[in-house]
Amino acid sequence: MARLSHLRNPALVALLGIAVLAVIAACSSPQTIFEPRSDAADKILTLYILIIVVSGAIGAAVLIGMGYLLIRYRARPGVKARQIHGNNTLEVVWTIVPILVLLVVGIPAIFGIVGMTREPVPDALHVRVIAHQWWWEVRYPGLGPNGDDLVTANEIHVPIGREINITIESNDVIHSFWVPHLIGKLDAVPNHVNRLEPFTASDTGVYYGQCAEFCGLAHALMRFRVSVDTLGGFEGWVAAQNAPAPPPEDGTYLASGQGIFIANCSVCHTVNGTAAAGTFGPNLTGFGSRLTLGAGVWDNTQDNVEAWIRNASEMKPLPPGLPDEYAYLGSGNPTMPRFDESLSPEEIQAVSAYIRSLTLN
Ligand code: CUA
Repeated sequence: MARLSHLRNPALVALLGIAVLAVIAACSSPQTIFEPRSDAADKILTLYILIIVVSGAIGAAVLIGMGYLLIRYRARPGVKARQIHGNNTLEVVWTIVPILVLLVVGIPAIFGIVGMTREPVPDALHVRVIAHQWWWEVRYPGLGPNGDDLVTANEIHVPIGREINITIESNDVIHSFWVPHLIGKLDAVPNHVNRLEPFTASDTGVYYGQCAEFCGLAHALMRFRVSVDTLGGFEGWVAAQNAPAPPPEDGTYLASGQGIFIANCSVCHTVNGTAAAGTFGPNLTGFGSRLTLGAGVWDNTQDNVEAWIRNASEMKPLPPGLPDEYAYLGSGNPTMPRFDESLSPEEIQAVSAYIRSLTLN
């Protein structure tokens, strides 16, 4: 017990606390509001620091004052406490000071909240994000072939320096869209369109996003990426999405993979320029250029894609699939089936190679 008794030493405990805080502060996180990369994130951090400083100062003042009073007016033999009934000065002070504090914190916060509802500028880039259990559908109205939507999944591309107007919807339950470096968070509510504060990214890079509202078993695995590209890079990405990879030549290995894909996967997945046009699952056009699969959870490697096709539910919980006869009810999505019973390992290998070959030019 000799060691534990050290913990009764307040100075030692305080030192330990400071050491722990220093270690935590040194941790860097891929998702942090402390490295803002957009005007909106800048604003959030400024407000956050203001509120932390003000509330920290109040906390310190209260604790120091309380400590002083506890020592100065502690019970001592022979000293009788003064009996006081009311003090008008004190009451006026402790009414006015909190009002001032609330004004200092409240006015910038209210202006910040009102600013969040502002309309985007007319040439802002509109991105529709539709949350599903447990992945993100991403649509760019008007940017697809023939003025249709450009559709992708789990990896959002936006240009630097141009205002971005993201609207959030849900296909099933309540989710929440959050990219700490850039913007957020905002709930995705079924049958309702929410709009994020329009923002302009200030640095290129890939930023991590995360569903921030518990939405079922794989909530923690409902991730995504936002890639902030240069203006030219973004335009190139859009053009490449609209000119998907040319079909594999007849008789090749990839062509056999494509045949198996069309036969087994096209009910749920789309690959632009092929017969696959299903919409239950993520659109896989340009899949080979994506960094991850399973909504930001696994690296996009041949092994992982094969394992996913064999039995995706072993890699990530999937929504309960409705039996076929109830599919018309349309509640939730049909789930990603396992294919290790219906396809041979060679077939799964070929399908994986095919979808990974769908890279953008
Ligand atoms: Cu979607 Cu949590």
